[in-house]
Amino acid sequence: MDMSLQDLLLLGKKDLASERGVSCAGELPAASDPDLVERAKVARAALGSRAMILGHHYQRNEVIDFADITGDSFKLAQAAAENSSAEYIIFCGVHFMAESADILTNSDQKVILPDLTAGCSMADMAAVNQVNQAWAVMERLGLASQTIPITYMNSTAAIKAFTGRNGGAVCTSSNAERAMNWAFTQGEKVFFLPDQHLGRNTAVLKLGLNLQDCVIWNPWKPNGGLTDQEIVDAKIILWRGHCSVHGRFSVENINEVRARIPGVQVLVHPECQYEVVSNADVVGSTEFIIKTVENSPAGSKWAIGTELNLVQRLAQKNPDKEVVFLDKTVCYCSTMNRIDLPHLVWVMETLVNGRVINQISVDTEDAFHAKVALERMLALP
Ligand code: 13P
Ligand code: SF4
Repeated sequence: MDMSLQDLLLLGKKDLASERGVSCAGELPAASDPDLVERAKVARAALGSRAMILGHHYQRNEVIDFADITGDSFKLAQAAAENSSAEYIIFCGVHFMAESADILTNSDQKVILPDLTAGCSMADMAAVNQVNQAWAVMERLGLASQTIPITYMNSTAAIKAFTGRNGGAVCTSSNAERAMNWAFTQGEKVFFLPDQHLGRNTAVLKLGLNLQDCVIWNPWKPNGGLTDQEIVDAKIILWRGHCSVHGRFSVENINEVRARIPGVQVLVHPECQYEVVSNADVVGSTEFIIKTVENSPAGSKWAIGTELNLVQRLAQKNPDKEVVFLDKTVCYCSTMNRIDLPHLVWVMETLVNGRVINQISVDTEDAFHAKVALERMLALP
């Protein structure tokens, strides 16, 4: 069926009108709309090179199908930084990724997050006032000048700005080792936030530090739940944050899959717990996980510990290999999953109609300092 955008918009309006009893131009289309894919194609074509659609690897297939670039958070940040021509960057991922894209793009480019409720539970575990309180303790102990903050991409713009202001850098799961090595050329201690697991796995399994070199800062306890001496002695101060999706994988999962599938290789994301990562065969970012499976010989067997949309797509795209999910229970990232085709169609059609919705715009002051920390990451050797 060959339909114009106007026809399709009208169809969508009718659907909603009957469902809600109102006529409401440009509202969220119903997921049941049989013309949704066609509407997405028409709106995408109408936007042309004015829009770039970025899709994180954890997005649903229906969204990935429309992404111009798919990638891990590092690749998508680079893509945003390198594109100075698209008027709209439609970011199919979560809030902190869209914030980073806004910081790295020109002031006349607009970053759109199709569903504003697509946040990240890990990023929400570090509030800037809590981080400032922790830093005040390090200042009181005379440690701040020799402590370098390294902030995982999965954090708010305000935390990235704190990092930029205090001589630190952002990192992602694909360059945490390089960022931490760089930090130790700049100071004697690393304050790693908000993912304790990525921080610990990098410090111990990549840099060769001891578990005892790391302490955990609990933002809900006075002095982070630590004595002054523990803070003074630590090489790495880990923020007490974690990913609720990756935190679920266990050593039992690994033992179970190894017993069930002889010869299987366990490949996990570094947001998994230390015990899981140290028992796995291979560890890396989402982009690394995909490349590793794609480049493995036919007949290889992989049990993957990361988000389920990615693992299901890997299994579909590599039918000559056995690709299974490490855990037996379903484990989508519920916030990544909030971006669905209705939301993508909604923001695209609204842009076609000349209205910008769901724009992510970081406060100028925060953006300035966060950009310093992001650019330090992009410049890492
Ligand atoms: P990547 O940096 O591997 O894309 O991971 C981002 C993320 O949110 C993992 O949970
Ligand atoms: Fe955040 Fe975890 Fe979802 Fe990644 S998988 S976006 S860290 S909640």
